[in-house]
Amino acid sequence: MDEIIIKGGRPLKGEVIVGGAKNAALPILAASILTGGTFTFHNVPKLKDIDSIKQLLASMGADVKSNGHTVCIDTANLNHFEAPYEHVRKMRASILVLGPLLSRMKKAKVSMPGGCAIGARPIDLHLNGLSLLGADIKLAHGYVEATAQKLSGNEIYFDIPTVTGTENLMMASAMAKGTTILRNAAREPEITALADVLNQMGADVQGAGSSVITIKGVKKLKPVTVSIIPDRIEAGTLMVAAALTNGDIKIKNCDPNHLRSIIHKLEKTGVDIKILKNTIRVKGNLPINSIDLKTMPYPGFPTDMQAQFMVLMSVANGFSVIDENIFENRFIHVSELCRMGADITISGSHAMIKGVAGLSGAPVMASDLRASASLILAGLVATGTTRVSRVYHLDRGYESLEKKLASLGAAIKRVSS
Ligand code: EPZ
Repeated sequence: MDEIIIKGGRPLKGEVIVGGAKNAALPILAASILTGGTFTFHNVPKLKDIDSIKQLLASMGADVKSNGHTVCIDTANLNHFEAPYEHVRKMRASILVLGPLLSRMKKAKVSMPGGCAIGARPIDLHLNGLSLLGADIKLAHGYVEATAQKLSGNEIYFDIPTVTGTENLMMASAMAKGTTILRNAAREPEITALADVLNQMGADVQGAGSSVITIKGVKKLKPVTVSIIPDRIEAGTLMVAAALTNGDIKIKNCDPNHLRSIIHKLEKTGVDIKILKNTIRVKGNLPINSIDLKTMPYPGFPTDMQAQFMVLMSVANGFSVIDENIFENRFIHVSELCRMGADITISGSHAMIKGVAGLSGAPVMASDLRASASLILAGLVATGTTRVSRVYHLDRGYESLEKKLASLGAAIKRVSS
């Protein structure tokens, strides 16, 4: 297993380019199931999670070819409708094939994803929505078995604005008979990106980005060539890296409109942020002000940035409180940060952080995707050397993060242990 070794204390300087968004690419690649033909996707990030969904699509009979950041998928000969446990346990977002399979194959057998490090991650809202579209859902032997001769539009209310639930139901209803209305739908930019692709395929999806999405079922869809939107969480992670190291970096190929809550919070810590079209310039400004934070569904502050922001608060001036309102167990990074000298106390969904003068490098272990990123960030600012193990978690969602940070002047390298 690889490890990443960081010698802290260097301010980041220079320019870096953000890659395509993992959480947009996953549903968009799954949407290729909806109709036969060759899809071409550009700006697809090279990540373990993307490899997982490509392997899953190939196991169903799709012809998948990759060339750099371009992926071509021919789904004309799709002949399987199963997403087996060995795939889904590696990447729970494989549940995104459920809606498209049901629409294309009239049946689907998908392993239940089960929980993960950050929480139970139920899929009840996905299944309830598909039942309302007329699917017959059975849960047996750890699998969801769904069948539907013809899906029919309906009104679906989500108790919680679920991101992949909204995406699954958008795809399932694209060719259903009649109109589907999703209420309390998720509003993330990745939802809008998927809706744009579905509409280019010939669907009729209106209202994406708001909490009410209307999908008028169409008779057929066609394959398309599209480019994946930039990854707002990678951009946010790099912004925090600049703030932490008192650096001065330009983050290129991002969409500032997707980063408003992160920009707002970083500016409150005293960081200087300049927006130049699809580039954001971030200049650190010590001392860092302590601020409070609540993770909320988009457009609120993203839970996927909570761990990264916690590192910033751990070396800020004073006290801050972070409320994690989305997942019930997303403080796993705290114990490792405390081993590096952070002063953080957890009480339920609240983390109380007392800013310390500095962190000290240590051997630490990654536990999930965003926790891994937070440990890398902590290493950038800690005195001495930090050794992060189990970085396969990081590779699920960040493409060569250590190379990007090294290009900005960080003393960071990957070693195979
Ligand atoms: C998506 O996960 C993202 N993953 C997550 O990113 C992100 O953290 C999350 O949305 C929240 O923004 C992808 O897009 C592939 P949810 P998802 O359904 O869709 C509860 C990362 O680091 N819920 O919006 O699984 C759920 O337990 C990953 O890139 C139900 O109760 O999240 C959670 O408390 C981590 N029943 C809340 O809703 C359901 O049927 C939001 O979950 C579905 C969800």
